[in-house]
Amino acid sequence: MSNIDSSDVLTKTQFIMPITPRPSLCFTHGKGHYLFDQEGRAYLDMVQGWAVNALGHCPEVIQKVLNQQSATLINPGPAFYNAPMLNLAETLCENSVFDQAFFASSGAEANEGAIKLARKWGQKHKQGAFKIITFKQGFHGRTLATMSATGKAAFDPLFEPKVSGFSKVEFNNLNAVEAAIDTQTTAIMLELVQGEAGVIPADKSFAEGVAALCRKHNLLLIVDEVQTGIGRCGTLFAYTQYGIDPDILTLGKGLGGGVPISALLTKHSVSCFDYGDQGGTFNGNPLMCAVAEKVVSEVLSCGFLQQSQASGAYLKDALLGVSDQFSLGEVRGTGLLLAMDTQAISATSIYSGCLERGLILNAPNTKTLRFVPALNITPVEIDQAIEILGDTLCSLR
Ligand SMILES: Cc1ncc(COP(=O)(O)O)c(C=O)c1O
Repeated sequence: MSNIDSSDVLTKTQFIMPITPRPSLCFTHGKGHYLFDQEGRAYLDMVQGWAVNALGHCPEVIQKVLNQQSATLINPGPAFYNAPMLNLAETLCENSVFDQAFFASSGAEANEGAIKLARKWGQKHKQGAFKIITFKQGFHGRTLATMSATGKAAFDPLFEPKVSGFSKVEFNNLNAVEAAIDTQTTAIMLELVQGEAGVIPADKSFAEGVAALCRKHNLLLIVDEVQTGIGRCGTLFAYTQYGIDPDILTLGKGLGGGVPISALLTKHSVSCFDYGDQGGTFNGNPLMCAVAEKVVSEVLSCGFLQQSQASGAYLKDALLGVSDQFSLGEVRGTGLLLAMDTQAISATSIYSGCLERGLILNAPNTKTLRFVPALNITPVEIDQAIEILGDTLCSLR
């Protein structure tokens, strides 16, 4: 399978722009819950491309759709309708509170669109209001506007001057949100679980309170479900678990099951772009839309989400056991978006120790491990992951 050997890997890495530390591995193929490197070594993958491969690596259903669609129509251009684009938009709208969709290629692009839509709506309906309230530690992407909206302190000094108009307030603090609202505010942009911050859920009363403030002050509620959407939290969308009614929703990651597609969903009352305001060469391309349509139909198929919820509960239980055994910290999250605090042991060392033993985990910071396996993971793989994690923790004690 591999067409590259270890010395080739070392030689060729110099041609890749170094934007993140990477181990000197090169993955050559993947199947289900496993990735394989250039030496043919298997790794159990509890990260799946950062919560992207909802159905695991290279599932047959996606291979089939890609084959069929690539032999039928890859891209007629964004200025024409195509069948997969229409079908996907209909499916997403019929299974949500939204009326219309715009498709892009990454979560950041969907959020950039949401920011633009909220500003356009403010211009048309709120005397030019343009400010958006976002949250400390929140994450919305790496374009200039989405980095400006992001509440990661490390982003603050970067790429100045940023896009203005974002007020960042404390998460789960409703008084802080109300205090930040002024006549120029057009929207509040919220993650229901702050994934990149280490899987920090919004309190239900906080999310309800934010929704109520939006109604009271005539603001748009933008919910960023790039990470939480498409079954990741055990339901198709996380907003339904909070009983709130967003005006704009963004999706990415799991929507494409590994291929690049994202979506911006909204209601008729909010949809106010004029021709030319929003677009992009790849928007709504049939190859990606056909895959996403298949992913959504698998996630909505009978028993899929129940099974995924059961696996999430099984993994959470197992992590509570590990935390107890090794005196680690809190285990939190919903569905298959879970995290465990590692207290005195560095999460980065656990990540490296697990990788050496053939387990891929993610450490969003030095004190937290995040678990975002494929939604169809079973107790068999979870037991294997817990065993490797336990061995690693023993070695670090
Ligand atoms: C909540 C949230 N929004 C936006 C993004 C950005 O998505 P992308 O990396 O596809 O641009 C991410 C990525 O981690 C995310 O977790």
